[in-house]
Amino acid sequence: MWDRETVVTWVQSFRNEATHVLSFINLKGGVGKTTTAVAVAEILAQEDRKHVLLVDLDPQTNATVTLISEDKWSELDREGRTIAQLFSDRINFHEPPKFDIETAIVKRVSTINDGIARLDLLPSSIRLIDIQDRIPMIALSGNFTTNPLEILKNALQLVLDRYDYVIIDCPPSLGTVTKNGLRISTGYVIPTIPDIVSTWGIYQIVENVERFAKDIGRSIPPLGIVATKVQRNNLHSRVMDDLKARRLGRFGEEGALQQPPLFNSSIPQLVSVARGADVGEEIRTFKGKYGEAYYSSKKPNATPTSPTGWTPCSLLFKNRRRYRRSRSRSPPNSNSQISTVSSLRVANPSSACG
Ligand SMILES: Nc1ncnc2c1ncn2[C@@H]1O[C@H](COP(=O)(O)OP(=O)(O)OP(=O)(O)O)[C@@H](O)[C@H]1O
Ligand SMILES: [Mg+2]
Repeated sequence: MWDRETVVTWVQSFRNEATHVLSFINLKGGVGKTTTAVAVAEILAQEDRKHVLLVDLDPQTNATVTLISEDKWSELDREGRTIAQLFSDRINFHEPPKFDIETAIVKRVSTINDGIARLDLLPSSIRLIDIQDRIPMIALSGNFTTNPLEILKNALQLVLDRYDYVIIDCPPSLGTVTKNGLRISTGYVIPTIPDIVSTWGIYQIVENVERFAKDIGRSIPPLGIVATKVQRNNLHSRVMDDLKARRLGRFGEEGALQQPPLFNSSIPQLVSVARGADVGEEIRTFKGKYGEAYYSSKKPNATPTSPTGWTPCSLLFKNRRRYRRSRSRSPPNSNSQISTVSSLRVANPSSACG
């Protein structure tokens, strides 16, 4: 039998209406998760005219303060209009809830053009640090009706239909907060610096997400690995070669899981990118914000694409092609990928980064 969520997702994908929910994950800090998630969200909203919600799940609040000023964040935090209040309400469930999704979502965020019309933000808060360890144990406080992994899902349910994409910036862990993001994700992206320490946990991520997806009874496919902060040195070249050949570390061993493909384009280490992440810099154009790293005006290249005409790279770069969703008329099957994300997957290694 199919559950309601599965059937709804299938029907929406058939009507071309399903929201893509993409989590940006790596267990290593400082690898460019936030920078990449914010750039993808801004490009989808500004260039592709998609309705995008960026959900900041990281208590470090880096995505939040990249998109709105710290003063604005301070005001929202005081008023309980952040993701921390959402979780806190479930922990202190005997008190009246303060979080309201409609007022928590900040509309028209970004320093670009004084705000991008279709880009919204659900902000995070450093208060999440104090409460995140208590989320898995909410039942101990007497709250038996809330599934700690479905708090975000329940909150977003009311607004999800308004967005073409929800981009989730995850903290560098696979804890309950990240799993709240994965619970609603139709796919995930792994940004990584191509070095040993940054790529070390990738196998663990893929293994854990696969297990988690099995537990919740649906697929959460990895869309690919994005190489970030790439430098011209021997170590980076060697790791890039392994990533391209899909034999990174344990992935290269017999009987191991298949390594997700590497995106066609990589993000170089550039001062302009670091500067663009600073909201105080007030950079108002894509080029000013990211230099050429995330935003290229190059003509489409001859990179092979998936049979759907879409590769994950198209999310990150202007040389993308329009993707078509596969319109399978077959009924949903609990073993198959139900969501439209199936059509986003890179079909074979040759369609990944060259
Ligand atoms: N391509 C790049 N070139 C130069 N600096 C970069 C680049 N990408 C990101 N940075 C800088 O590297 C730092 C870490 O980036 P970012 O915050 O995106 O990483 P993260 O993986 O989200 O980190 P965390 O795990 O702490 O959340 C930031 O100061 C950012 O400005
Ligand atoms: Mg981050």
